[in-house]
Amino acid sequence: MIGLVMLAIIGMGTLFVVHNARRSVAEEVRSSVNLALQLIDAGLEQAVAAGRSPVDWIAQLARLDRTRHLSLSIHQGERTIIDLPSSAAPAAGEEAPGWFAWAVAPEPLVAEKHLHQIGNPMIQIIIDANPADEIAEAWTEARGFLLLMLALAVTVYVVVHTTLGRAFNSVGVILEGLENLENGDYSRRLPEFYLPEFARISRAFNHTVCALEKTREENRALTQRSLAIQEEERRYLAQELHDELGQSLSAIKAIAASLRKPERDDKSTADAVGTIQSICDHLFAVLRTLMQRLRPLMLDELGLKASLEDMIENWRSRYSDIALDFRCDDGIDECVGDSRIHIFRIVQESLTNVVRHSGARHLKIHLSLIETADDRPEALLLKVSDDGAGFDPSRAPAGLGLLGIRERVESLGGRFGLNTRPGAGVTLRINIPCGDKLP
Ligand SMILES: Nc1ncnc2c1ncn2[C@@H]1O[C@H](COP(=O)(O)OP(=O)(O)OP(=O)(O)O)[C@@H](O)[C@H]1O
Ligand SMILES: [Mg+2]
Repeated sequence: MIGLVMLAIIGMGTLFVVHNARRSVAEEVRSSVNLALQLIDAGLEQAVAAGRSPVDWIAQLARLDRTRHLSLSIHQGERTIIDLPSSAAPAAGEEAPGWFAWAVAPEPLVAEKHLHQIGNPMIQIIIDANPADEIAEAWTEARGFLLLMLALAVTVYVVVHTTLGRAFNSVGVILEGLENLENGDYSRRLPEFYLPEFARISRAFNHTVCALEKTREENRALTQRSLAIQEEERRYLAQELHDELGQSLSAIKAIAASLRKPERDDKSTADAVGTIQSICDHLFAVLRTLMQRLRPLMLDELGLKASLEDMIENWRSRYSDIALDFRCDDGIDECVGDSRIHIFRIVQESLTNVVRHSGARHLKIHLSLIETADDRPEALLLKVSDDGAGFDPSRAPAGLGLLGIRERVESLGGRFGLNTRPGAGVTLRINIPCGDKLP
């Protein structure tokens, strides 16, 4: 396409040059012929005024040199008095190529003048224009222009071709990168391209691939962790069921069998029944602990606020050296709906982190409702901040607690903010939209 456009430009330029050359050659030739005619007229007038015969004056013309553009012939009757052809053709190497000469050659121009004399045959003066020299001159000028245009076109073509070639190479490399990504290969990065636009695409691509790779690693770690937790819970449940339930049921079965014996008295029967009752009480307690571990029952029975208060009371009694300021708006239970277990677990993990990593003296946990203009709860804001050691997020060891919190928040369509630096404590800001209260 670019080549064709360049050819079209060269073609139009050539037409323009030929058109101009043709016009100027025609004008030059015409004015030469006109000038010659005027000079002849003026010469004849002068000769007549000086009393000389026009024939004498014309005879002097034979002494003229040959002119460049004109051939002159003078005839009287059948006799040729003068025959002056135009001067020699242009020097070798300067003549125009055939196509140019053909394109710019003007119409043949011949001027004739007749002198009538009484008693003598008519004198006929013929001036014939020869444009060869003029065409050669026009070619010299046009050739420079055409060569310049050709050089420009070739330069433009080469530059555009090279630039586009590079661009398409870059597109090929980018496509290859995208295909790798499609096939799940996140290890490949794009090079820094020469063209600035492609360099930006390459940087954005590499940044995205890094983020994807990190997310995939995090997901893998989370999945492994959740599978491990699942296995651990199953092992724990199996152990508890075996130790507590199995033993208790065996005991009940043995006591029930002993009740059948005919030699039993009332007291031993009453003792056996009492034992069965206390074993059943123990079983209930074990069951309750198990269920509490699987899912805090209070959460469903009493709601999030009461469950958090209960957990925090428990926590305070264990870590009395940390002053915990807990505040929670009324009405959060209506806002959180099914997401309450997530919020409960988030607070639980935050408390664990404070104890494990912060060395804090003060801790604040605030749950407040963000309301719309017409007082309807719109979102829940959970803020957990401590005055402990803080940490540098870019250097912290990769745990799964904070990652799990972020995953939970994002799965609820919320926003997760972590503000911390070494020595400045940690502040978690979590914003979760209200589930069922939204219009
Ligand atoms: N409140 C805090 N104060 C100081 N450092 C913290 C606090 N919370 C987290 N950190 C730092 O951030 C790191 C990551 O925390 P995260 O909860 O993700 O993992 P973890 O607690 O180390 O392990 P786990 O996966 O068992 O939770 C911690 O190792 C710790 O260095
Ligand atoms: Mg943790």
